Amino acid sequence: MSGLFITFEGTEGSGKSTQAALLAERLRQQGERVRLLREPGGTPIGEEIRHTLKHSSSNQAMTAEAELLLMSAARAQLVREIIRPALAAGERVVCDRFFDSTTAYQGYGRQLDLQQVQALIDFAVGETRPALTLLLVLPLRESESRRQSRHSATTPPRDRLEEAGPEFFARVERGYQAIAAAEPQRVRTIDATQPIQTVQELVWGWVRPLLARPEHGQSAAATRR
Ligand SMILES: Nc1ncnc2c1ncn2[C@@H]1O[C@H](COP(=O)(O)OP(=O)(O)OP(=O)(O)O)[C@@H](O)[C@H]1O
Ligand SMILES: [Mg+2]
Repeated sequence: MSGLFITFEGTEGSGKSTQAALLAERLRQQGERVRLLREPGGTPIGEEIRHTLKHSSSNQAMTAEAELLLMSAARAQLVREIIRPALAAGERVVCDRFFDSTTAYQGYGRQLDLQQVQALIDFAVGETRPALTLLLVLPLRESESRRQSRHSATTPPRDRLEEAGPEFFARVERGYQAIAAAEPQRVRTIDATQPIQTVQELVWGWVRPLLARPEHGQSAAATRR
């Protein structure tokens, strides 16, 4: 039996968490067994690393290299503790961010060597790769305004990564464009300026054909037309 591994990617406020939750709910309504995860995090060790990366009061001095290694450590744990067993049991695994975030943020954003970043990604995940990645594309200006509206409410203060400057986010955006261009079969881009329900239907349009073909498992996206 083999499950199905789907990831959501995109810049801040593009709707990843919203759409991951909606997809998980829709899959459950279809009787599927679903594991909804987020990165960094998803395991006890990973959630501690998430705190160190994002919210710890002592993380301002963190180097880009340390950030990359911590992200990779959390992912290595998540893959082996949760994702592989879930896929082996035939579950549908939906992950809010995965390795493309590392390419986009630590590679393009922090400007670490892209080949070294890729080597660490490969070490962390091994053969565990998403069959389908939904890349939610939102112009930078809109990303900023969505983040501000969210942060003006009752949410906690911005985390360390969110505090980076506009040039950083422009590089992240270019990173995602490069990822989508390099793997167009796996990475499906969706215009995230559309209403939530419209985006959800587009997501479902890419997911549904994969459900009927569990035998293709993790490589289903690579073989579909
Ligand atoms: N299609 C949409 N149209 C308008 N607003 C949206 C849409 N999708 C999500 N939002 C709103 O934008 C905000 C950010 O959405 P969400 O938290 O899902 O984004 P995210 O990609 O997970 O962000 P982050 O990268 O910061 O985790 C939320 O207030 C959400 O309700
Ligand atoms: Mg989110």
